[in-house]
Amino acid sequence: MVNFEDLRGDFPILARTVRDGKPLVYLDNASTTQKPTQVIDAIGDYYRTYNANTHRAVYALAEEATEAYEAVRDKVAKFVNIRDRQEIIFVRGTTEAINLVAYAWGRGHVRPGDIIVTTEYEHHSNIVPWQLVAEERGAVLEYVRIDDNGELILDDLDKLLDTGRVRLVAFSLMSNVLGTITDADAIISKCKAAGVPTLVDGAQAVPHMPVDIASLGCDFFAFSGHKMLGPTGIGVLWASKEMLGEMVPFHGGGDMIREVHKYESTWNDLPYKFEAGTPNIADVIGLGAAIDYLERIGMKNVRSHEMLLTRYALEKLSAVPDLKIYGPKDASRRGGVISFNFQSVHPHDVAYIIDEAGVALRSGHHCAQVLMEKLDVAATSRASFYLYNTTSEIDALVGSLDVVAQKFAVRGKKEEGDAAR
Ligand SMILES: Cc1ncc(COP(=O)(O)O)c(C=O)c1O
Repeated sequence: MVNFEDLRGDFPILARTVRDGKPLVYLDNASTTQKPTQVIDAIGDYYRTYNANTHRAVYALAEEATEAYEAVRDKVAKFVNIRDRQEIIFVRGTTEAINLVAYAWGRGHVRPGDIIVTTEYEHHSNIVPWQLVAEERGAVLEYVRIDDNGELILDDLDKLLDTGRVRLVAFSLMSNVLGTITDADAIISKCKAAGVPTLVDGAQAVPHMPVDIASLGCDFFAFSGHKMLGPTGIGVLWASKEMLGEMVPFHGGGDMIREVHKYESTWNDLPYKFEAGTPNIADVIGLGAAIDYLERIGMKNVRSHEMLLTRYALEKLSAVPDLKIYGPKDASRRGGVISFNFQSVHPHDVAYIIDEAGVALRSGHHCAQVLMEKLDVAATSRASFYLYNTTSEIDALVGSLDVVAQKFAVRGKKEEGDAAR
């Protein structure tokens, strides 16, 4: 049995106070997560004791740095079940991974008149790169819609696949706003039957639940280290060797070449063909420490803890008058992300007021303006949980909403008075 409350001691930032001594209640984990000492120390250790460039020199420090960097590729492979370490490309994050595919695969494979399919609940990073490719190649972008429960309407996908013009289907495994967990098996099997490749944005899924890329059977998979206890600036793109082999390099420079001549070059083996320049060595090592940490806890346990928090939060927030929750009602259909709107108070005002109580909550469009349009709102408030959050922090959130209600009731009364005068 993991005692999740005890894990808090591993995260130095959780001990700090904000806004005149209020304990920090950090509920913005869908944006980025806090880092345990183990990750911070792994990065510090590299800089303190074996800082050197990788893959280039034969001296002891360089060998140690290269070994540590490459060992993380094996950890990633095991963590998300990738069979071949050469298929793991280190990138800056999910955004860069998707842009890499759009540039290096999309521009060579998408033809005029083709359809690229994505969904109404995507993050901008899984929309804008496809808009760019579609515009350049004369293709069109189509969306699988969501229903009132925040679930994808898969009939839309069937109809699009029936046109025979779909070149790629790109979707996220978990919505960063609604928390909806996508039925990836259904989408991928439909696409396979139609001979259409799939790209999965795993930014919100990999940190929070067991993910097995080999059994998913997709063609591209992307995720970010900073949303899973790791540092910023590091993420992973997975694609099969066949796909990567067909793709042109994304960036040109050192390490990605085999030979360079005055007017032409040849490319290095995978994965280095896609890792140009000095890599983000320290943060790859930090990502390795984050994976070690998560594996020690077990991803099934992480998911169970977050389901418990989500269920608790859904129950408590549903009891708050005039609060609208978006996304599936059933905690087993969603991750630990809850978006809501409270009375007619703007989400930025909600976030400002509860920040006074030390509660860090996200407000805005969450890089999902297509979804905001669909929901017919400019913004939402969003609470998102991770393994170190507790039910008492959810109580703190719900309690601080009382303060919001009181402030706005007072303001409402004052405005009524002013209008009457
Ligand atoms: C679903 C989803 N996809 C992609 C991204 C982009 O990730 P990054 O900013 O780490 O590249 C995010 C970040 O919030 C996300 O939630």
